Amino acid sequence: MAEDEHGGELRTANSSDRSGNSGTALIATESFEDPGHPEHGHRVTDSDPKKAKGAERVVVVLFWVSLVFSIFAIAAYFIWPIDREDITSVRWNSLFVGLGIAFGMLALGSGVVAWAKYLMKDEEFAEARHKTGASPATGKRVVEIFAQADEESGFSRRKLLRNSLITAVLALPLPGIVLLRDLYNGNNEHPVDLLHETMWDEGVRLVRDPSGTPIKASDVTIGSAFHVIPDGLNDLGHDELLNAKAKAVVLLMRLPEEKLNERPDREGWSYHGIVAYSKVCTHVGCPVALYEQHTHHLLCPCHQSQFDVTNHCEVIFGPAGRPLPQLPIAVDNEGYLVAQSDFLEPVGPTFWERRNDYNV
Ligand code: FES
Repeated sequence: MAEDEHGGELRTANSSDRSGNSGTALIATESFEDPGHPEHGHRVTDSDPKKAKGAERVVVVLFWVSLVFSIFAIAAYFIWPIDREDITSVRWNSLFVGLGIAFGMLALGSGVVAWAKYLMKDEEFAEARHKTGASPATGKRVVEIFAQADEESGFSRRKLLRNSLITAVLALPLPGIVLLRDLYNGNNEHPVDLLHETMWDEGVRLVRDPSGTPIKASDVTIGSAFHVIPDGLNDLGHDELLNAKAKAVVLLMRLPEEKLNERPDREGWSYHGIVAYSKVCTHVGCPVALYEQHTHHLLCPCHQSQFDVTNHCEVIFGPAGRPLPQLPIAVDNEGYLVAQSDFLEPVGPTFWERRNDYNV
């Protein structure tokens, strides 16, 4: 064995390259002294009972702060309720409930960290490696370790601290439980009713989105697709407009008439091959915005549901549960496209149990 210029050892080892030639290599290993553990710095809370008591008080305060924020989150849910007519109410509700939960978790986490850092036993020791594998002795040792941890952390001894932690932990999930209340509709209004009425009505003109200009039947050439809203929608206030638009958006397309395979109960809902369907996907409500004019398929980009326009927008692929609702259309005496009525079925997602009286 040889020595390198730094005093390290040079060892020989057999090796072979990719072409199979074998040889002997020299590997340098540097020798150095075991640096050992750095000197352990003792905490002030170990030597000064007053400081330890102060740290304990801080931890207790953090746990109670966590409790206060959890209660605030619950209160915020009721103080800033969600008003279905006012979209800004959703933002305020989410903001304050979220802040309550976030600060509740932050205070709880900070309390636990401070407890471990300043109050639990601060001792360093080296543990020799040993074989893994459970044995009766190991089980016994685990119990001893738990008992030791309990003793060292003071979990049983420091009753105020322990009870504060338990109270804070129990309170933390409560805001989440309160949020489940949103699954209940306070007005006893069935979700289907909310989506059953839109701005469409008899004689309402179909206008371009977003310009609001009306559309003549002659404007709609074969293969074209228009994004359409009801006339008058742009006159609404901002929040009202968003709510109304979310339900009333429509896609207008023209197909060769012979390609349309209309249901017998929907004869007269189209105009010379021009058809209008809700743009709100019946899966979970994304806008169905992609029209493939050669196949006459509509594609929802969210989860790839596809609807066949030639066959009353039945679902031919993907997770959507039912066809897109059709808007019955006609032409007024000035040649503009108008709705014959509102949709005759609820628009949008179908994940609740639909009622039979809408026959959808
Ligand atoms: S929302 Fe359209 S496929 Fe999921």
